[in-house]
Amino acid sequence: MNILICIGSYRRNGNTAHIAAMIEEELARRAADAGVPLAVEIIFLAHEQIGLCRGCRVCFDKGETLCPLHDDFLAIKAKMVEADGLLVASPIYVNDVSGTTKNWIDRLAHVCHRPQFAGKCAYLVTTIGSGQSSHALRTLGAALQTWGFHIVGQTGFKTGALMDKAELRARFQAETARIAGRLFDAIQQRRFANPSFLSLMTFHIQQSVWQQQPSDTVDYRYWESQGWLAPEREFYIAHHANRVKVILARLTGSLLKPFVA
Ligand SMILES: Cc1cc2nc3c(=O)[nH]c(=O)nc-3n(C[C@H](O)[C@H](O)[C@H](O)COP(=O)(O)O)c2cc1C
Repeated sequence: MNILICIGSYRRNGNTAHIAAMIEEELARRAADAGVPLAVEIIFLAHEQIGLCRGCRVCFDKGETLCPLHDDFLAIKAKMVEADGLLVASPIYVNDVSGTTKNWIDRLAHVCHRPQFAGKCAYLVTTIGSGQSSHALRTLGAALQTWGFHIVGQTGFKTGALMDKAELRARFQAETARIAGRLFDAIQQRRFANPSFLSLMTFHIQQSVWQQQPSDTVDYRYWESQGWLAPEREFYIAHHANRVKVILARLTGSLLKPFVA
């Protein structure tokens, strides 16, 4: 099992990094107990060369490999593609994810058009001084869900400005163990093959949008190459979602499409 942890804090010894390290420890424990080989890589996004998105739209119109920013981004995206699971952990700055995390999301905007991460599980984590985590978790959730990830869960940790490592452990050991267990089990049990109502609906809305695009666009060609434009196609990957859920999700998607697409 291959898990990638992307951290959106500059602070290598900050709250977010410590929480992520605790989750990594628990993942290792779970894998050892289950006898499953595990590779976890942690990336501090702020310490990689990931230039600010210039909004040139080259990734949308010509393909992400032609992005004029020649930096670490494509290598990091390749690691996301290789991973079975992703843990995203961002500190909250002024009620939302950090700018580092948001720029990583922006650089991945083309994946909203060409969702590449179906078949992978993700868990969302934020750390915050004392306020509300819901807005930032929504930012993360909306992006990752659109990219095709199966979102296993989310946790907002209230940590103050910088919590002592021992105190973090005492307060959050149980929650970090729970997160590791949920992510590990979801990957092992292939829960992504049972997509949520929202994921099924998102697929259907996107499918109807791209079916109507000119056939010479990068997006159309990508959808066609995946076999996703076939009218009978219900989801990005083979799934075993309940028939009633699939039919209702497609129906709701058709009704909502004029308002959201
Ligand atoms: C620029 C900045 C903005 C912040 N904004 C908020 C905020 O809106 N609400 C809040 O409760 N805490 C806020 N905090 C506190 C951080 O969310 C919190 O301390 C977080 O755990 C820091 O993570 P780190 O140690 O990994 O950097 C802010 C901290 C910084 C540096």
